[in-house]
Amino acid sequence: MKGIKIVATGKYLPRNIVSNNDFSEIVETSDEWISQRTGMKNRHLSSGEPTWLMGSLAAQDALSSGGIDPLDIDLILVTSVTSDYMTPSAACLVQAHIGAQNAICMDVNAACSGFVYALDMARRYLCFDDIRRVLIVSSETLSKITDYTDRASCVLFGDAAGACVVEAADSLYSSDLGSDGTKAQLLYCKNPFQVKHPFMKPELVPEYDEIISPETEFLYMDGREVYKFAVKALPKAIGAACEKAGIRVEDIDLIIPHQANIRIVETAARTLGVPMGKMYVNLEKYGNTSSACIPMCLDEISKGGLLKRGQTVAVVGFGAGVTYAAAIFKW
Ligand code: ACO
Repeated sequence: MKGIKIVATGKYLPRNIVSNNDFSEIVETSDEWISQRTGMKNRHLSSGEPTWLMGSLAAQDALSSGGIDPLDIDLILVTSVTSDYMTPSAACLVQAHIGAQNAICMDVNAACSGFVYALDMARRYLCFDDIRRVLIVSSETLSKITDYTDRASCVLFGDAAGACVVEAADSLYSSDLGSDGTKAQLLYCKNPFQVKHPFMKPELVPEYDEIISPETEFLYMDGREVYKFAVKALPKAIGAACEKAGIRVEDIDLIIPHQANIRIVETAARTLGVPMGKMYVNLEKYGNTSSACIPMCLDEISKGGLLKRGQTVAVVGFGAGVTYAAAIFKW
């Protein structure tokens, strides 16, 4: 089976740390409510550094910690829901900043599942010999799209970037990915540009139903419904990936879930019959940083020496779309 190997990891965190108590000064909330309902304590917020720059700095951290020449990167995949430009891709901007001229570049938008989608794409590219090294960068400035008057969502999100370099390996790999666009209205942020040009003909507008409402310029989230979706999708994706790999959930040494809410992680662990010690959690420090959560965890695990080569790892994400994705591979 053609598997993958993570050969380098990196991250970037903005220096501005915002605590639960800081939120109680702008909305009606408390450290107690946020800690108990989410597990979060702090999050880092951008002071203006753009998504592409955060991603580039995380990429540079990964390349320097792995001793990898940027010219040896064949493919750059950037995952983000908060890209600075609709075009060019954030991947091209990262490429220019880090000097990876030999890479082909593209962005992946699968919201909080983005990193695992990109990892799965990387593995598929790595099955062909012309791509030997993939740089995945997940960079999010959720503060750009967060409504800081909505206490139910603003306390959840942070800004960060994580990166890793992936190569092919002769080892176990399995994944389970899924999407359900009929649940798009649970979590969305509308593009501010609308069709408006000098040749508008209102009589030519076809009848259609707006699939996404209510109108808001910020990220809209139906927290309770997302929660219900997440607690089912997370264990289901892990279970399906285990089945495809022919292993048992107990065979996984460490599960790295999307860091949305400690209660989601605990419920998923109970459903899977896995002790919490096998679930990697760092959301108390960074909040939910969308697709950046999982590569940030990978960087902590890698630099902290928390896994030995050959151990079995699962990564699992879920998010807007709705989307979910799990991948199992050897460390
Ligand atoms: N402080 C104090 N009270 C609050 C806050 C807050 N920050 N937020 C909500 N409340 C109140 C609500 O108004 C409500 O009050 P009411 O009973 O008077 O109406 C009460 O707390 C309970 O609200 P719930 O929505 O039932 O609270 P819940 O326990 O479900 O927690 C939460 C809300 C944290 C949003 C939870 O639903 C959740 O984590 N959902 C999943 C969110 C998620 O995963 N999002 C991201 C996925 S994709 C991505 O990462 C972009």
